[in-house]
This record gives sequence, structure tokens and C-alpha cells, in this order.
Amino acid sequence: MSAPLKNERLLRALRREPVDRTPVWLMRQAGRYLPEYRETRRKAGSFLAMAKNPEIACEITLQPLRRFPLDAAILFSDILTIPDAMGLALYFVEGEGPKFRHPVRDAAAIAKLGVPDMETELRYVMDAVRTVRRELDGNVPLIGFSGSPWTLACYMVEGGGSKDFGRIKAMALNEPQALHALLSVNTDAVIAYLAAQRAAGAQALQVFDTWGGVLSPAMYREFSLPYLTRIARELERGDDAQRTPLILFGKGNAAHLEALADSGAEGVGVDWLVGLEEAARRTGGKVALQGNLDPAVVYGSPEAIRREVAVVLDAYAAGNGGSREGHVFNLGHGMSPDMDPEHVAVLVDAVHTHSAR
Ligand code: CP3
Repeated sequence: MSAPLKNERLLRALRREPVDRTPVWLMRQAGRYLPEYRETRRKAGSFLAMAKNPEIACEITLQPLRRFPLDAAILFSDILTIPDAMGLALYFVEGEGPKFRHPVRDAAAIAKLGVPDMETELRYVMDAVRTVRRELDGNVPLIGFSGSPWTLACYMVEGGGSKDFGRIKAMALNEPQALHALLSVNTDAVIAYLAAQRAAGAQALQVFDTWGGVLSPAMYREFSLPYLTRIARELERGDDAQRTPLILFGKGNAAHLEALADSGAEGVGVDWLVGLEEAARRTGGKVALQGNLDPAVVYGSPEAIRREVAVVLDAYAAGNGGSREGHVFNLGHGMSPDMDPEHVAVLVDAVHTHSAR
């Protein structure tokens, strides 16, 4: 038996129930902007060594919670664990980001891919979830996560990050059936991965569709949206008050908010290029909304941070009939390594102070 949850703000907000304050967590809240992270990493050697060690992954997950009264923990891991376990062999080059030794570039390579076994090949992730749940002791809920089928495919086909996504877009144009086969196996793997994290103790789940926004609207409706919707429909997550909520975060997803609100997910995460008043109106209370402070606001002064936090909170309420219910505060994308932890403290306090009911 695990401890009862002491802070239910996140789960209540995702069910669109009343809360005393708007919950807040931050994408990449654990990471290089924290001196204690850099210290842990110096000792451990590399990012992958840390992510593959459940005790270290747990320690890093908890670091931001020791500093700030955040309303959720997010597992310290990476979205590229799935393709790594599929055999693509993930590695990192300092300053260049993630890369794969064996990218998949044709139908033959794609046909060989299978769903990894979650309790053997990805056991280190599930062990990290179990360890964090134990150490959190019910203080805040733990968010598990995965990349979206499209975003994973971007890295798998490009072999790493990309500026123009030329290889995967050429595959979409020239061999769409090969790309659909890749997206289909990725979707099966994402569903199994999120289900295993839920079974291991994750209390909310987020899918990062970081690169959905590089697709034209028609291409998004063909290569990303149907797979996100399949995850939302097929992922087993319990009933009613016990349901494990699923958040679909997408960068550049503003054109598709109505479709995402109809996907079956409990929450939709948006970036800062759409106003939350408009986003709340267009989703009409069908889902909770998560977001969407421009991450660059963290570079502003404490006064500017407080002002901009209030703008986001009030925009949501304005589009939601004057109510703050159904809002999870977050950045529109992740924290950067050069951000000041003192400013994060101001941000978290501003959310709780300005939203106090
Ligand atoms: O949010 C959190 O605190 C949880 C941990 C988390 C990480 N990566 C830790 C990490 C999460 C949720 C991710 C997801 C992830 N990883 C995404 C989707 C989210 C997004 O940002 O849109 C993507 C695209 C990746 C792939 C990836 N992994 C990138 C682009 C990088 C950065 C590479 C670089 O050098 O800048 C990573 C490595 C990574 N993942 C770091 C962290 C803290 C930095 C590792 C380090 O150098 O110490």
C-alpha cells in the first residue's frame, strides 16, 4: 500500500474540479539550471548513466521539490528510452543533443521494429517510477511520460535533432505507408510504456508531441493527430475519480485544439503562441488546459514574472466563464539550463498567490 496523496491539486484540476490554488509544475523542472543537478551529473558522468540508475533518477526527480512548493513531480527520464530499447542505440554528444547509432530510414528497417518488453528492456524506467513513488511518500503526485509517436519518429528517422526535418518529411511524401508502419509500432509501444508506468505508480501521464507543430495542418491530421487519439482512446486508465489523467502536450498545436479536446484525453498542454482565453473558449470545458507561460519570462525581473503569471492565470479564467477550474499552470515549453532558480521560486509563489481562492 502506498501513502494517501496529500496534495490533490493536479489531479483535481485535471478532472476540472475546484481547488484552493491553481496547481503548478514546470516542464524540465529537474535539470541543468539547478546546481545540485549539475553536481549529481558531475559525479555520475553522463545523462544516460543517471537516467538508467533508478536511485539517481529518483534523487534528481526530487531535487526541484526540495526547493519549490511544486504541485507535482515528473519522472527524470527521457522520451528517447523507447527507440533506444527498440535497438536504435541512443547516445549524447556534448552540445549536440541526442543521437541514434542505428536510425531507421527505410521500410525494411521499420519492419524489424517491435514493442520492447517493459519489465525487462525498460525495467530501469519502471524501477525509477517505483522508487520515486516510495520516496515521495504521497506528498505530490508523480507524472509519467512518453514522446508522441510522431516526435519519436522524428528522432528515429533523422537520427537525432533536426532543423528542417527533411528526412522524415521526405518519407511522409514518398513512402507514407512506411511512415505509417513506424507510427503504428511507436503507438503500440507508447501505450504499453504509459500503461507500465501507471502500473508502477505514475498518477498522471503526459505525451510530449514536441515536433507536431512542424507539420502543415493536413500533415498533422495524417501523421500525428490520429496516433495521439489512438493513445487517448486505447490507454486503459481506470474510471471516474480513480482515473489516471492523460495530458497531450504539443508545441505548435494551436490549430488543432478542438480536435485534441475531442481526443479522449483529460488534459491538453499548449505553448505560449496561443492565448489561454482563446484556447479555453475553443475547447469549451471538454478538457483541462495546461500552460502556457513563455519560458523566456523566467529571464524577466521578479516583478515582470509576477505580472506575466497573472496575465496567464486571468486569461484562462476569462475564457472559462470567470472560473480558474480546469487549469494546470506550466510553461509553454521546458526550462533552459541558464535560468535562475530564484526566479523559479518567484514564479511558483506568484501562481499560488494570485490564484488563491
Ligand atoms: O521535465 C522534466 O524535468 C523531466 C525530465 C525530461 C527530460 N527530457 C530530461 C532531460 C523530460 C520530460 C524530457 C523529454 C524530452 N527529451 C523531450 C520532450 C520534451 C521537450 O523538451 O519538448 C525531448 C525532445 C527529449 C530529447 C532530448 N533529451 C533533448 C532534446 C535533450 C537535450 C539535449 C541537450 O544537450 O540540450 C535531452 C537530454 C535531457 N533530457 C536533459 C534533461 C535534463 C539534459 C541532460 C544533460 O545534459 O544533463
